[in-house]
Amino acid sequence: MLKLPGLIDPHVHVREPGQTHKEDWDTATQAALAGGVTMILAMPNTKPPIFDGETLALALEAARQKAHCDYAQFLGAGPDNSNTVPSLASKAAGLKMYLDSTFGELRLDDMTLWMPHFNNFPKDMPIVLHSESRTMAAGILFATIYDRPVHIAHISLKEEVLLIKAAKERGIKVTCEVCPHHLFLTSDESASPALGDRKAPRRGGKGARVNGRKEVRPRLATQQDVEALWQNLDVIDCFATDHAPHTLAEKDSENPPPGFPGLETLLPLLLTAVDDGRLTIDDIIQRCVINPRKIFHLPEQPETWIEVDENATYEIKVENQFTRCGWTPFEGWKVKGKVKKVVLRGRTAFENGKILVEQGYGKNVREN
Ligand code: DOR
Ligand code: ZN
Repeated sequence: MLKLPGLIDPHVHVREPGQTHKEDWDTATQAALAGGVTMILAMPNTKPPIFDGETLALALEAARQKAHCDYAQFLGAGPDNSNTVPSLASKAAGLKMYLDSTFGELRLDDMTLWMPHFNNFPKDMPIVLHSESRTMAAGILFATIYDRPVHIAHISLKEEVLLIKAAKERGIKVTCEVCPHHLFLTSDESASPALGDRKAPRRGGKGARVNGRKEVRPRLATQQDVEALWQNLDVIDCFATDHAPHTLAEKDSENPPPGFPGLETLLPLLLTAVDDGRLTIDDIIQRCVINPRKIFHLPEQPETWIEVDENATYEIKVENQFTRCGWTPFEGWKVKGKVKKVVLRGRTAFENGKILVEQGYGKNVREN
């Protein structure tokens, strides 16, 4: 049995308020614990979006009643709230800015809308950017001009990881995360370089509608991009799931929303990569505990750890998952490494497939 610290996932879409048929604070935080994640940072693109005191209170009240694991809630940057969000910063995980295409209403197309946020949001609190390709380059320029740290969410492209590497070498305060789906899946159907033949055989065949299930933002990238991420792991500060649950019916509809669930597959995929010699356990601890704690100024969780059977080999199956969305892009994948037990602040929160702490046990880590 391998003992690890509780993992921190800095990028989770909980869907409450507003879209609890996809997920809510109850099921998202159960999924987190089952995945060995003891703290999540929740994204603000809910319905309504979290962008002022009132909506923040709405999300935090749902979390207070329902969360099984610890958490903090991001604020969303909108066109009109750059003067008001700074006063809420200490109660939030940080500020999320959507600079590119996403799910929901929070999007800032015009750079004049970015400026007051970069100027006003407290410099010691994280700003996280959803920014792809050249927009990401613009975001890094903003970090330089306004002399403040930025964290780039879910990088997926070779050009992105190489530019962040160059920016870091120049001392620019930029950090980044990568999601398992951008490390283990490609836009083409060819085998991922990471897991070789562990991948499930292709299912479906004639008439199977699988395309909506590949929709995610940023999109899955090419083999070359995926290889560049693996080759530049030292540039990557965090592994984050971007857990973005949508129901299977929605994913298979005419207009599929982008996003994959990920909380329950994060650690099994990473441990399988350890088994394949592509990662070390220390790489995981750095990127799933130490770096997110530092970047987002998160407190240590006392008496908190997870126990993992690193030799357990099994297939990922949706029926074993706690997420409400009812599917996973990794269905049928053979993985090695299973979370057996999670202890959160002195209590056994998950053991042998069961959640053992009640709704409301989770703590807001921005509250004293
Ligand atoms: O694939 C995505 N899903 N990308 C995003 O930016 C948003 C997310 C969601 O909320 O579903
Ligand atoms: Zn996201």
